[in-house]
Amino acid sequence: MKKEAEEQGLIEKALEARRKAYVPYSHFHVGAALETETGEVFLGCNVENASYGAANCAERTAFFKAVSEGHRKFRRIAIVGGFLDSIEDYCMPCGICRQVMVEFGDLHEFQVILAKSSEDYQVYRLEELLPHAFLPSALE
Ligand code: THU
Repeated sequence: MKKEAEEQGLIEKALEARRKAYVPYSHFHVGAALETETGEVFLGCNVENASYGAANCAERTAFFKAVSEGHRKFRRIAIVGGFLDSIEDYCMPCGICRQVMVEFGDLHEFQVILAKSSEDYQVYRLEELLPHAFLPSALE
């Protein structure tokens, strides 16, 4: 499949995941689609809580689902976010999610696809989003 078609397919899945967002407090709906090295895709949405700090971002939902199913290596993630029916901006992943990404994604290879729609998106490498990261290798 062509690279663009693959990226667009992953964005469609992130849009699908976004429909499940549980966001009674922020009303900011986020969806993520995470592709493993072997091509499986795990979806995630943000899940908020009356105790605000207990909220989980869409990206981490997708990562934790995948890791808990035995996956450890990933190719890319597509992220979409915005209020209800409008996605006006690219949804930048928060710092905690970037840190989770560097735990499991290669700094130079792992791609972060930020989309407003399947036609309008940007692709970043992890090293661009979290330079000077604290890496698992620091603890070896
Ligand atoms: N959020 C995500 O799920 N991912 C991001 O990349 C940024 C923020 C969520 C957390 C919270 O539920 C809502 O968006 C507003 O911060």
